[in-house]
Amino acid sequence: MSESNVEATPAGGEERGRAASVPGEELLRLTGVKKYFGVRGVPFRKAGAVRAVDGIDFVVRKGETVGLVGESGSGKSTLARLAMRLLDPTEGRVFIGGQDVTKLRGRRLRPVRRKIQMVFQDPQASLNPRQSVGTILTTPFRAQGIKPTRAQLIELLHQVGLSEEHLERYPHEFSGGQRQRIGIARALAVKPDLLVCDEPVSALDVSVQAQVLNLLADLRDELGLSYVLVAHDLAVVRQVADRLAVMYLGTIVEEGPAEDVYANPAHPYTRALLSAVPVPEPGVVRERIVLTGDVPTPIDPPSGCPFRTRCYKAQDVCATVRPTLEEVSGEHRAACYFPESSEPPTSERTP
Ligand SMILES: Nc1ncnc2c1ncn2[C@@H]1O[C@H](COP(=O)(O)OP(=O)(O)O)[C@@H](O)[C@H]1O
Ligand code: SF4
Ligand SMILES: [Mg+2]
Repeated sequence: MSESNVEATPAGGEERGRAASVPGEELLRLTGVKKYFGVRGVPFRKAGAVRAVDGIDFVVRKGETVGLVGESGSGKSTLARLAMRLLDPTEGRVFIGGQDVTKLRGRRLRPVRRKIQMVFQDPQASLNPRQSVGTILTTPFRAQGIKPTRAQLIELLHQVGLSEEHLERYPHEFSGGQRQRIGIARALAVKPDLLVCDEPVSALDVSVQAQVLNLLADLRDELGLSYVLVAHDLAVVRQVADRLAVMYLGTIVEEGPAEDVYANPAHPYTRALLSAVPVPEPGVVRERIVLTGDVPTPIDPPSGCPFRTRCYKAQDVCATVRPTLEEVSGEHRAACYFPESSEPPTSERTP
């Protein structure tokens, strides 16, 4: 394939070039990515746009499960769709498998689609009701110019805990959990390295959520998959994520190894989010921090720190310049002028 459409690495972007990532190692990299949407039919202008994603650097390496969390409207789905190249970024670069794919479109995206696939939030809406499961599973092969064998389709069904008899059935004949299994099977068809799962269990009954999360964990172990797991529910990601990125108003406000972020949230927003999640260890309670007010509109986000209108620690400096992600410890970073100290956010009840 000609690569004339692939942009050169920008000067000074030391880690940004194709050469910087060993194939198979760095699966996804977003650098300085922004996505602004025009408002209600008004021709696209940066002023007055919805800043759904507002300057994000994000990396996923082979073998990792990265949890992407944040309240509804924080830009998680937009980021997922940018990573999939389903949306064009307003600014910034998208690298998949070390290749700059920012400008690739149409047929040129085909090889990229083999590496990265998406599982959608609502399996009901993402499966064509007029297509049999067999046809649904054939689609990703055809997009690659491949005609799958029946045995391949059956193997896919087995991988997600379904069987041959399901091949001729239609989506409405399945439960919500089974439909999401079909969505996962479709995503696995072309043997991708990375699955971007956008709230894969939030449309499901709580009793079914754990089964689908267990399936994703099993597939990771069996197939060596990596995941971006989008969720607004931190308890869901806690079960499976190695690394966490916390989004607020289109930015990542904290990121790091999941254990570190859970044990020692540095950003006031993360601390507030986590304070609502029950701690699994008996006898340990977190101090509850109640977030007041709503997420501000991404059309006119606050100056400086996007969280300052709801932050219990905000000071004058927070309204000046947006804080950048700074090291808390090791790979753990937070974007806050007054990060919480490393004391655990939990208090032990004395027996
Ligand atoms: N196609 C679009 N046009 C205009 N605004 C959009 C579009 N898609 C998303 N948005 C807005 O961008 C913001 C982020 O949305 P989204 O990425 O769906 O967040 P999340 O997945 O975290 O709930 C929201 O304010 C949403 O209304
Ligand atoms: S920078 Fe200021 S407003 Fe933002 S989270 Fe930190 S303390 Fe709160
Ligand atoms: Mg979403």
